[in-house]
Amino acid sequence: MKKNNKRRIAILTGGGDCPGINAVIRAVTKKAILKYDMEVVGIKDGYEGLINNQFHPLSYDDVSGILTLGGTILGTTNKADPFHYAVKSGNQLKFEDRSRDVLRNIEELKIDCLVCIGGDGTLSVAHHFYQEGVPVVGVPKTIDNDIRGTDITFGFDSAVTIATEGVDRIHTTAQSHHRIMIIEVMGRKAGWIALHSGIAGGGDVILIPEIPYQVEKIAEYVHNRSKRGRRFSIIVVAEGARPVGGETVIRKIVKESTEPIRLGGISFVLAEQLENMVDLETRSVVMGHLQRGGSPTPFDRVLATRLGSKAVDLIIEKCFGKMVSVQGNSIGEAPLEQVTQGPRLVPVDHELVIAGQEIGVSFGN
Ligand code: F6P
Repeated sequence: MKKNNKRRIAILTGGGDCPGINAVIRAVTKKAILKYDMEVVGIKDGYEGLINNQFHPLSYDDVSGILTLGGTILGTTNKADPFHYAVKSGNQLKFEDRSRDVLRNIEELKIDCLVCIGGDGTLSVAHHFYQEGVPVVGVPKTIDNDIRGTDITFGFDSAVTIATEGVDRIHTTAQSHHRIMIIEVMGRKAGWIALHSGIAGGGDVILIPEIPYQVEKIAEYVHNRSKRGRRFSIIVVAEGARPVGGETVIRKIVKESTEPIRLGGISFVLAEQLENMVDLETRSVVMGHLQRGGSPTPFDRVLATRLGSKAVDLIIEKCFGKMVSVQGNSIGEAPLEQVTQGPRLVPVDHELVIAGQEIGVSFGN
């Protein structure tokens, strides 16, 4: 219960974590307290905490020292869409609308704004609550860099840095053993991480979901490299890449999740196919959640701080139903509604794709 007349904001983090979330929480909390004498409340585990009324106050001291910390101090989940909430009954899963519980809890919390830090799933739900009358401001986050309405998301630079280090390390062992090495990185629908880490790591072949590949073309490419004396090749593949006319490789289905399909394993499928087509030993490495964990890069710390600061400006201006965003070199805002219109994909004629092609990188097409 509120004991004073101070303005109060609540922060939640939803969906997959990524480096830089804590830097946003810190920036929002510090600015709200220092500059505007507001009260800040942290919601536990994303919308789950709003459904079950789990929150705690966030003080200036609570957010001191978290700038460099990976993950989220508030906890998160990608299984709690209040409008479509999964409930287990025996072996069965049913879905309930728990949005009324959330609206009631928000009402009781007496908040002036709910700050939702999340990806497309979390921000789509935020947009839905905005339509229900909740004052909401969004902060886009994902390592995948695929949120519409912003040129870049924090977390992406950190993920690319980690993936590139993986590619660099694989490079030397591939060279020594004259092998094809396939590095699988995250990116369900958008190949931004594969494109950037592939170019940064000097990959020979880069496979992204937006450009379906032909395995024969890849085999021909690595074979020709081998004939020219380059007896190894580095292939960077996004988990969501697929062959022309083919499907993505699904690792598992998480029924209760807002995005039930978990991808993974394309690098193993590809390795087996290539080994049967070219006379080169082929190995795979899945970078997986290494790309999501750990400390944010300096770029992401700065970006997260700028976005967090801007989020407080939007709250003060009562500019709700918006998310903070990057437009060129500036921080601005975009309607939350944009995130409901699907992911921001790599254009097939993106300047980095063309630059790669022009220096001899194969996109498998
Ligand atoms: O959206 C971010 C992301 O890291 C995707 O690239 C990846 O497919 C997914 O999350 C993995 O989710 P989880 O942590 O639930 O396995």
